[in-house]
Amino acid sequence: MTDFIERGLEEIKRRNLYRQLKVVDGEQDATIRLDGQEVLNLSSNNYLGLANHPALKEAAIEALDRYGCGSGASRLISGNMTAHEELEQRIARFKGTEAALVFNSGYQANVGIIATLVEKGDVVLSDELNHASIIDGCRLSRAAVSVYRHCDLDHLEGALKSAPAAARKLIVTESIFSMDGDIAPLREMVELAERHGAMVMVDEAHATGVRGPNGAGVVAETGLGDRVLVQMGTLGKALGAFGAYVAGGGKLKELLINRARSFIFTTSLPPVVLAMAGAAVGLVEKEPARQCALRRNTEQLRGGLGKLGYTVGGSTQIIPVMVGEERPCMELAARLLESGFYVQGIRPPTVPPGTSRLRVTTMATHTTKQMEQALDAFGHAR
Ligand SMILES: Cc1ncc(COP(=O)(O)O)c(C=O)c1O
Repeated sequence: MTDFIERGLEEIKRRNLYRQLKVVDGEQDATIRLDGQEVLNLSSNNYLGLANHPALKEAAIEALDRYGCGSGASRLISGNMTAHEELEQRIARFKGTEAALVFNSGYQANVGIIATLVEKGDVVLSDELNHASIIDGCRLSRAAVSVYRHCDLDHLEGALKSAPAAARKLIVTESIFSMDGDIAPLREMVELAERHGAMVMVDEAHATGVRGPNGAGVVAETGLGDRVLVQMGTLGKALGAFGAYVAGGGKLKELLINRARSFIFTTSLPPVVLAMAGAAVGLVEKEPARQCALRRNTEQLRGGLGKLGYTVGGSTQIIPVMVGEERPCMELAARLLESGFYVQGIRPPTVPPGTSRLRVTTMATHTTKQMEQALDAFGHAR
């Protein structure tokens, strides 16, 4: 009866889609010890290098002393602590919104938000390259899902026009796309939404801490804070901690507290994690030099890869190096790893078939020399 497990694994291997866990020993940093090998990390969302910053560690230790370890219950039972309330106030200030609500992860936030905003009979309009957590949120909501071509405003408008007039409509997009590193045309999208009476939700997972005034994200950068209903972002990427937030109006927060199942039915985050996130927000607001360093490293690596003849996409710290088929993509990643550079190959189902790529990411804590060494390795691996 259970031979489907072996057959499933064989099938995955036959299609060059087999995945294995690698182990990082020690702290998350610009260089890491990966399966016993010292490598330059070009595969992390720890974009600002905050995951091992002393200020985050100190905040965590203080919180440990003050609050202990676990929260013991979900937020609506006895797991709502001052640490949760304080972080939410801090995030609302950071994002310039009336309110914020913390979720246990970005995955849980997306699933919970979308299923709260739309239901059967409604329509979600979702970019074809949106993250799996958005796709799963759309599915769970039971609303009709209209997938529009990547960042294609004409296609989106067509879908808005053909949605039933009485249906609630929700446009959902990432601001910086996680696997493509490009940026959604948010201004035009918001104008379309306003013309067609649709709500807008923006996932700022890869923009939080990285873009915009004080690192508040692309929505803030484009001055759209008052016109986007839901801004969602994560605390585990550039902010170096863990968890996620929703920023928006007070009533939206109230509804999510009452309806979002992934918020209600789960033990709340431990204060240690919240304290790290709070410290990270403070650093991002006070020390914009990290954003500049990230931009500098990105320009160096992105420009150099282009000169080497690689096809690179996007315009941000996420640099997809397009390969196409799975096998050559993983072979290129293996050659780079052999020479001490860790770059993750990304294959279906994470990206569409035929678009396998190396997802290269830069960090503020990489040095110019390390970027040069990475380019040398890419030159040799080609
Ligand atoms: C665009 C996007 N949204 C949401 C998530 C989920 O966030 P988390 O890792 O906090 O669950 C991710 C990545 O993990 C992501 O890339």
